[in-house]
Amino acid sequence: MNAAAFVMKDHSLTPAQVPPTVVETLDSAEKAALVARIQRLLKERDATLVAHYYTSPELQELADATGGYVSDSLDMARFGTECRSGTLIVAGVRFMGETAKILNPEKRVLMPDLGAECSLDLGCPIDEFAAFCDQHPDRTVVVYANTSAAVKARSDWVVTSGIALDLVKHLAEKGEKLIWAPDRHLGAYVQQETGVDMLLWNGACVVHEAFKADGLRQLRAEHPDAQVLVHPESPLDVIAQADLVGSTTALVKAVTELPAKKFIIATDNGLFHKMKLAAPDKILLEAPIVGKGATCVSCAHCPWMAMNGLRNLARVLEVGDHEIRIDEAIRERAALPIRRLLDFAKQRRQVVLGNNDA
Ligand code: 13P
Ligand code: SF4
Repeated sequence: MNAAAFVMKDHSLTPAQVPPTVVETLDSAEKAALVARIQRLLKERDATLVAHYYTSPELQELADATGGYVSDSLDMARFGTECRSGTLIVAGVRFMGETAKILNPEKRVLMPDLGAECSLDLGCPIDEFAAFCDQHPDRTVVVYANTSAAVKARSDWVVTSGIALDLVKHLAEKGEKLIWAPDRHLGAYVQQETGVDMLLWNGACVVHEAFKADGLRQLRAEHPDAQVLVHPESPLDVIAQADLVGSTTALVKAVTELPAKKFIIATDNGLFHKMKLAAPDKILLEAPIVGKGATCVSCAHCPWMAMNGLRNLARVLEVGDHEIRIDEAIRERAALPIRRLLDFAKQRRQVVLGNNDA
């Protein structure tokens, strides 16, 4: 089927399906006690904390202070494979925990809250997705990391925002036509940049979809000296105003390395913590979620990322439940496209560094 002729049903969540964003509040004494308890338990349980940039400053600081890791979803997956601990605690959302388990079946993977979902993952149920793929057997199936293990197992390639453009260009050079799932905005951006024939699944991230182009235009007019940094899960008319489009890691790097003093940033505001640490002298403004048609469902902070806190982290270390478990046949199959992604990313890094025979 021709991509232009194809119309896909909307797989966005309704506002009623999105939980409220509730950020953990702690007084300083409770926080200090929890931090000390978690540090002790991480050692006793041979556990390492891996956190996404969108989690709370407290979790990110703990991960950094205890030999763990804070990064984007691609890099979290890579770190998990290199880390020696028997237990990984993944502070993030479920697909990140599942990716860690898929790549490290011998490790125990625990999450502070197993209900930490992702609207992209929820909007791509395996039965519907498999039926869709079956209708287009001539297409290579590329899925974003923000999907369930079962959806990954049905794919040929897994990608993250950090490598999507590179990989799709690579597949296009081989003459492949694609199915892309689940993010319609990232898919539309990749399609626009590469011109590749892609059938797009029609899901969205509730956080990034809320950024508004008209509000952003107005804010840019008020701050003409600011550079605009946008995560590619945002709508195309927001991306169109960006000076730089990139993964969470690329956005942190941009704030640190670009000469501008002021930035307008369209991504989850959890990322501001790392940005402020990396570039304390820079002025960071949140891209607006107000404007024509605005509905602030998550208000620039992922409700599922916010489910991770010090209290439930301490609890899961103490009790050892909230373990990620995946059917072994699905895990084995899902490992193939993720490993393909990691190998491709490694190869690309070597090409970039001019070190291709290493
Ligand atoms: P990154 O891969 O850029 O970390 O993004 C993951 C994510 O869920 C963004 O909303
Ligand atoms: Fe999913 Fe969006 Fe939350 Fe990222 S920010 S985990 S894409 S809902």
